[in-house]
Amino acid sequence: MIIRKSADELQAMRRAGLVVARARELVREMVRPGVTTLQLDQAVEEFFRRENAIPAFKGYHGYPATICASVNEVVVHGIPSADQVLEEGSIISVDIGAFVDGFCGDSAWTYPVGRVSEEVQVLLRVGEEALYRGIAQAVVGNRLSDISHAVQQHAESYGFSVVRDFVGHGVGRQMHEEPQIPNFGPPGRGPRLKEGMTLAIEPMINAGGYQVEVLQDNWTVVTRDGSWSVHFEHTVAITEDGPRILTSLQE
Ligand code: MF3
Ligand code: CO
Repeated sequence: MIIRKSADELQAMRRAGLVVARARELVREMVRPGVTTLQLDQAVEEFFRRENAIPAFKGYHGYPATICASVNEVVVHGIPSADQVLEEGSIISVDIGAFVDGFCGDSAWTYPVGRVSEEVQVLLRVGEEALYRGIAQAVVGNRLSDISHAVQQHAESYGFSVVRDFVGHGVGRQMHEEPQIPNFGPPGRGPRLKEGMTLAIEPMINAGGYQVEVLQDNWTVVTRDGSWSVHFEHTVAITEDGPRILTSLQE
């Protein structure tokens, strides 16, 4: 069952989304050569504490940190570490989730560390565009896979590939609610989108092949071919006025 949210519930979700957006901007400002991924994690954890927000990832199936910090060929679920120092020319995907007043906000973004190659700049741009192509399909009357298809079309038109083993999801009082939202597939399938649905749309786009594998730590997801990967995610509400991005910094 897809849980639809009332206007009041959407207001609470926006409060959660705004805290996550501000944490995301905090990370954006910190990312530079020499910073460790653990420093990013600690900064977000402290920020959440000040905001009375509860980290959504910490303890989730035993996940040990507040954020996921995924560098270069790491697709998602990289564990922050004091040993991981960001280097010029790398990229880092940071995934952030928090509960505020019982509702979850979930968002991810990929940043360049200093100057990155032309090719990587294209990957970053197309990944972000793919997210917004997907969001544009999150309208009343569309079907769920219209989102999936729009993401895939955009990424593949640049020769990139879409990760298949991990998907977006409904989000609300739980971080993961129905439905699952693949980032690939034919349009016109799945449930019809209705007002009050809240979705975490999160394309993971690889420069090379779509295959991924999980490392020995049982968390870190890497591309099989070592190609670099980007991840962009927003929590979005479907409204009569179109998609409303609950994890945007400004309204
Ligand atoms: N945005 C991710 C998701 O929606 C973050 C989960 S990381 C985990 O699944 F550690 F909490 F699993
Ligand atoms: Co998510």
